[in-house]
This record gives sequence, C-alpha cells and structure tokens, in this order.
Amino acid sequence: MKAIGDPIDRVDGRRKVTGQARYTTDHTAPNCAHAVLLTSTIARGRVAWIDTSAAQAIPGVLVVLTHANAPRLSPPAANESASPASRVLTLLQDDRVHYANQPIAVVVADTLEAAHHAVSLVKVRYAPEPHDVRMEPGLDQSYVPAHAGRPDQDSTATRGDTAGAIAAAPARIERVYTTPFETHVAMEPHATLAAWDDGDHLTLYDATQGIHPDRKRVAQLLGLPAENVRVISEFLGGGFGSKGPTWSHVVLTAMAARVARRPVKLALTRPQMFGMVGWRSRTRQTLTIGAQQDGALSALRHDTVAQTSTFDEFMEAAGMPSRMLYAVPSVTTSHRLVRTDIGTPSYTRAPGWAPGTFALECAMDEMAYAIEMDPLAFRLRNYAAVDPENGHAWSLKALRECYRVGADRFGWARRPLSPRALRDGHALVGWGMATSVYPAHRSPASALARLLPDGTVLVEAGTQDLGTGTYTIMTQVAADVLGLAPSRVTFRLGDTRLPETPVSGGSQTAASVGCAVHAAATALRERLSRLGITDWRLPAGQVIEARGEASPSDEEKQYGTYAFGAQFAEVRVDAALGTARVTRLVGVFDGGRILNAKTARNNLAGGMVWGVGMALYEQTIFDERLGRVVNNNFAEYHVPVNADIPTVEIAFVEQVDPHVNPIGVKGLGELGITGAAAAVANAVFHATGKRVRDLPITVERLL
Ligand code: MOS
Repeated sequence: MKAIGDPIDRVDGRRKVTGQARYTTDHTAPNCAHAVLLTSTIARGRVAWIDTSAAQAIPGVLVVLTHANAPRLSPPAANESASPASRVLTLLQDDRVHYANQPIAVVVADTLEAAHHAVSLVKVRYAPEPHDVRMEPGLDQSYVPAHAGRPDQDSTATRGDTAGAIAAAPARIERVYTTPFETHVAMEPHATLAAWDDGDHLTLYDATQGIHPDRKRVAQLLGLPAENVRVISEFLGGGFGSKGPTWSHVVLTAMAARVARRPVKLALTRPQMFGMVGWRSRTRQTLTIGAQQDGALSALRHDTVAQTSTFDEFMEAAGMPSRMLYAVPSVTTSHRLVRTDIGTPSYTRAPGWAPGTFALECAMDEMAYAIEMDPLAFRLRNYAAVDPENGHAWSLKALRECYRVGADRFGWARRPLSPRALRDGHALVGWGMATSVYPAHRSPASALARLLPDGTVLVEAGTQDLGTGTYTIMTQVAADVLGLAPSRVTFRLGDTRLPETPVSGGSQTAASVGCAVHAAATALRERLSRLGITDWRLPAGQVIEARGEASPSDEEKQYGTYAFGAQFAEVRVDAALGTARVTRLVGVFDGGRILNAKTARNNLAGGMVWGVGMALYEQTIFDERLGRVVNNNFAEYHVPVNADIPTVEIAFVEQVDPHVNPIGVKGLGELGITGAAAAVANAVFHATGKRVRDLPITVERLL
C-alpha cells in the first residue's frame, strides 16, 4: 500500500492556481442569461402588492417571476420534505413570507448588470405580521422534534437512573451554555446554472455537496424523471453543510430558465447567504453532572434547546457526544425545538457535535475543577473502554494515545492546576484541553475503473470535492490498489452521469467513495490478471473496465465507529483590555488510516481554525425588531483571519482499524471542529479564572 498516506500535492492544485479549475459560476452556456433574486425585508407576513413594471421596462430584462406568475409546481413540490436532508423550500408558490431574506422575486436579464438594476426597481408592499426571532420567549412552548428515531434527532435517551444518581453524587454541577447562530460563509457563494435541452431535459451546474441527491430533489420538485436531470459540480469553494441540501434558489433558477427559454445563471449575493441556505441554530444547553470524589462520573444530563423555522424542522442535536464519550453509568439527553420566524437552520460542520462538545467539554473542565483534579486526568479516569450506549466494542479507539501524544507535545505536565497562575507581562496565559469526537459514517457508493489505450487508468465516481482533496485521495486509493504511480491514474468526479455516490456530508466521502474506488480498482486488477495483461497495454480495439460497489456491512454495525482526538490550546488574555488571542494549538487525531497526510492535515486545521472562530469571534446578529441579520457580510461577520491563528500543530495516531470499513478510513472533515472551541474556552478560564459559558468569548463578556 504505497501511494496511500503519502502527502502528495493536490492533483488539481495546478488547475486551481492557474484558474483552469472551473467553479459553478465559471461555466456558461450559449445565450446564457443572468438571474438575480429579490428577497423579503420582513420576517413574517404577506407580500400584499408587488409591481414589476419598472423592472420589466429595463432593456434586456426577459422575465420577472413573482408569486403571481411563477409556474405552479405539483405536490409534493413546495411543502413536503422529501427526506430529512431536504428542506422545505420557498418557490414563489404563494404570497407568504416566513423569514427575512426569503426569495420573493427572480429577475432574468441579458446581463447581470441589467438584472441587478431591474431588481432594484421592483416595488413591494408587505402586510407584515408580528414576528419573533428570539429563542427565550418560546422556551415555554418548546417541543420534541418530529423526526424522533433518527439518531441525530432522537429527542430523549436515557440509561440508568440519572436523576437519582445526580442527587446522590457528592460533587454536582449544573451549568447553562449558549452558542449563537453561526453562518457557514463559504468563500464560494451558492450558484446554479440551469439549461433546458427541450423543455424536458435539464442540465444544472450547481454548487452542491451532493450531485445525486440534488438531481433527485430537483426532478421531484419539477415533476421530471431523475434521468432527465443532469447535475455537474466539478469544484466547490467550501460547503460545510450549507451546500448539502437543495435550496430554493436552485429550483428557482431552473424555473426561470424554463420560462425565459434561455440558460440562466444565478449566484447568491453574500447577504443572501444569511438565512436562505441554512445556518447553525443558536443552542441553549444545560449540563448537569454528578461525580464521586475520586473522579468517577456517576451521572450526566444534557438538555438542548435549539431554534427551527415556522415551516420546517431541523434539530441541532448537541446531546449526541454526551451519550457515548465517557463511561458514565447514568445518562439522559434531550432535544427540544422552538419555532421562530427564521430561515430553517441546517447542517453545519459537525452538526450537533460541534456545539455539543463545546458544552460537554467545558462542563467536564468545570467538574474537574470542582473536585480539584487535572482536567486530562479526569477524562482518563472516565475513559470509555466500550461504547457506553450499547456495550459494543469500538472498531478502534486510539484516544488514549491522542491524549498522551498531545499532552507531550503541548507540555501539559508543566501546567499549574490553578487559574491565573501563568503570567507574561500584561498577558494572562492559560492552557486548556478538550476531546474531539465524530461518528465514522459511510453510505453505499459505486465507481468505475477503466484502462485506457495509453496505459493510464481512468477512475470515475459521481462524487464531489468540497476543497478537501477528494480528487487527490481517490487517485491515491486507486493507484495503490493497481500498483501504479498516482500520475498514471486520473480521477473524474462531479457529474451525475458517473456512478452514484452519496452526499459529501457527515465526513463520509473518503470512506464511502474510497471503498467503492478500492472495489473498482481491485476488480480491474483482477480482470487484467485473468486476461494476462501485465504491461498495462491494451490489445488493439479493446476496452477493459470494472465496476465497484461498496456498502456498509452488517459486521461493521456491530462496532462503535468514531473518530477521536485531543486538542490543546494556549491563550493570552490582556489583563487590562480583556482581549483574548490563541497563541498555540495542538491537535492529535485518531482518524483511522490517513489517505494523504497533507490534505488530512489541511482538513483538520480548517476545523480547528473554525473552532477558534466559534470560541472567540463568530456570531450571526439579528436586529430583533426587524427580524433581520445585521452583520451579513465578511466585514462584520468575523471569522479568524491569518493573523488570528498561530501555528497549528497536528499529529495523527495512525493505527489499523480492522472493523470500520475495508479501507480503515474514519473521516476527518468534521472531527477538527469538535472540542476545539472548548479547548480555547477552557484555556481562557485557566488564564483568567473567569468562566464564560456564552459564545463567542468577546471582550465585553471577559472584562
Ligand atoms: Mo457536513 S455539516 O455533514 O456537510
């Protein structure tokens, strides 16, 4: 297995830096027109009157769609979620406004400039109704989400007598943590180019994390057979979950193209990406923990309330890590929702697990202090030898090794237990740590491998590359099986004409598509060997190809399959000003087999950097009076920039996981953000002695 693991450069790197890599908006079509959305300025009510005459009078304007003239979609079109991954869309089917920034009109014109100008001339009068975007007033009416039974939305789970064990525990804490609305803000905006062949066949270039699910959803909404829709997504500038579901603008672009009888391209503006395409809900999490004086946890309760919209449901299921991370005899988790007048929240990097590990890992730190125990020793004291949810063995859990290597590299042994004990001039210095964990998922996937006449191998699968390195690692997997240099393998993706694969969500692409590519390459190798072809030369006129399919086996379901990690952070807080800066980050991860050490490091570093943003900077701020987001731009929605991030030290504890799947891969896309914000928050406490339980930890909360 030589090609696997090598930190080779991205095979698409040259195309990216030379501008040859084509993202969705880089594509065009003959006679392509441009669309711009108009979105609502109120958070609830009706569009009482809309006048598009001035817009339509602009030269070059082709179509203005509103609820008054948009094509009617047949049920289950507008209002039924087809699957939990599908969101209820707003497709100009009626005059209702459910949230601020909801699409209320689409203008199509010859040029982008004309479309923008025309949108500015559409006149709207609303019949507003009282709205509420806040969680607190709705806490009394919070409810259990309807999708109970799905693991990530399962409302309440209990083992043991949690209440009794907490009451009997000598050490008890109860703490409330809150996390704000976070918006994905991928660099590449959502964008779609829709071209109809004959009124019946649709090609979509779409910035999507899942071309095959996207195809099914669009076909369903437009009443077409799935085969009539082709979706292409060759390059993505980030997704983070935001580009997982099919959102309203995708279908609206296809509708507009059909009416305009022209190919139509639409890109969301940056402000339009706040509310219409999902975000991470605010959470309010109550952690109640009981422990013995020797550090053994006796009970844990984790109650989460999050927000959803009035017309759809999504649960930020923060209680999940509390069910499985530590060996606690009694655990209760609950998830409840509050309906509010917002766009539906959705998958955001490590849904549930990112805010959940923030609260859990801060509470673990607080309990360690309550019983005067080192926070790392406290975690080791409660190390779960088997999956505590069901008693299953772990497929592999090298977390103990992650703790040991991370503590060594960071110098944790030199850490004084007391807060405010490390000082450097004006700076209060603090060291914190936390555990990372995310489930190892995979779904059925397929791939095709073909020997070409020039002696190279073409491998194809209809997956997508979010920027994480799918092109590169799949090339390596195939090269490895075939015993070829990666330069002799080409991997194609991003087209629904290629073999079917799942959405690139839940950190499952490397394992799902990797197993399919492995199977296809293995089948090709066996076929060549049966044919006696040993020199990679095709007999004239022959085509040799092999297909591979891979699905999770019953055997692997008998194990607890998770990726783990340990994160350590150093912060410096200005004693007078209260400004916090992260000065050191160390992350050590058990992600199973690492397919490419460079792209793996890059993916995890991205997650850890987001964790720093979550801890210190990020929050989507509403003007509650208007129900609108006020910081809907990169100037005011703060994410860490280069100057905010120190050197990020990342190491892998790479052990063979014989059970998780045939290639031993656990997925890394979401692991890095879990625990990261808690490590920083715990370091801030260690520096200052002040426990901030509401993210982000801004100056005013720290002073
Ligand atoms: Mo991820 S939030 O499942 O794309």
